[in-house]
Amino acid sequence: MTGHEWVLADAFDRAAPTYDAMVALSPGYHGQLRTAAEALVDGLPSRAAGSDPVVLDLGCGSGASTRAVLDAARAAGRGDLDVTGVDASAGMVAEARRKDWPAGVRLVVDDALAHLRSLPDRSVDGVLGAYLLRNVPDRDGIVQEVARVLRPGGVLVLHDYSVAGSLRARAIWAAVCHTVIIPLAVVKGSDVPLHRYLYRSVRDFDSVEGICRRLQTSGLVAVRHRSYPGWQDGIVHTVVGHAPS
Ligand SMILES: C[S@@+](CC[C@H](N)C(=O)[O-])C[C@H]1O[C@@H](n2cnc3c(N)ncnc32)[C@H](O)[C@@H]1O
Repeated sequence: MTGHEWVLADAFDRAAPTYDAMVALSPGYHGQLRTAAEALVDGLPSRAAGSDPVVLDLGCGSGASTRAVLDAARAAGRGDLDVTGVDASAGMVAEARRKDWPAGVRLVVDDALAHLRSLPDRSVDGVLGAYLLRNVPDRDGIVQEVARVLRPGGVLVLHDYSVAGSLRARAIWAAVCHTVIIPLAVVKGSDVPLHRYLYRSVRDFDSVEGICRRLQTSGLVAVRHRSYPGWQDGIVHTVVGHAPS
């Protein structure tokens, strides 16, 4: 990058104004986020009456994943949630803040790991990281901190692209990026280096089994994963794990 360090948060700042339009072109994006959010809501431990479940949406971006959590909770009759969306990109958080949110939703600009480190042990009921872990240099650090802050029985849901370990998935990912995603970023005036980074970061990310192992080695239990139909089969994955009860 012309001798300058490429900074991910700056790239997301540049992409923020076109982010929602780009993901609207991705078939299944919102539906899959909703499925991941349902897994989070289903996994929330029960709470004493009168206290709202505490949820973190790490890498909340422009708020699509936060909205999915609220919609899933409402549909499940889980009432009010105390949700904090955390994102390192001020531009993405500004996009999220432009939207209407119920009381109980807080959107903060912060690094996910730094935010987790600021929280007490066993203080959170559920954590969603949608398209987050792949972007974080200290992946074990994030998962270990989530395991520390989760209450007994609390739930972690990670949702992301992962193609390692499958030749088919790697080939489809390369073809879709080079023939659809990166050209669309050009046409839509979005940040092209960010979309090239998307290709590389997914290509080089953990296998889904590797993600599961990170959860297990951090002490989370009942770890499971699923994928989605269509071209994203074996490419988009949701991984769920629980703090021991
Ligand atoms: C692909 S977007 C996903 C946004 C949202 N979760 C969604 O599903 O639409 C990934 C987001 O993660 C944020 N991010 C990347 N690394 C981060 C970190 N270390 N701490 C906090 N946010 C981070 C980026 O700024 C970006 O907004």
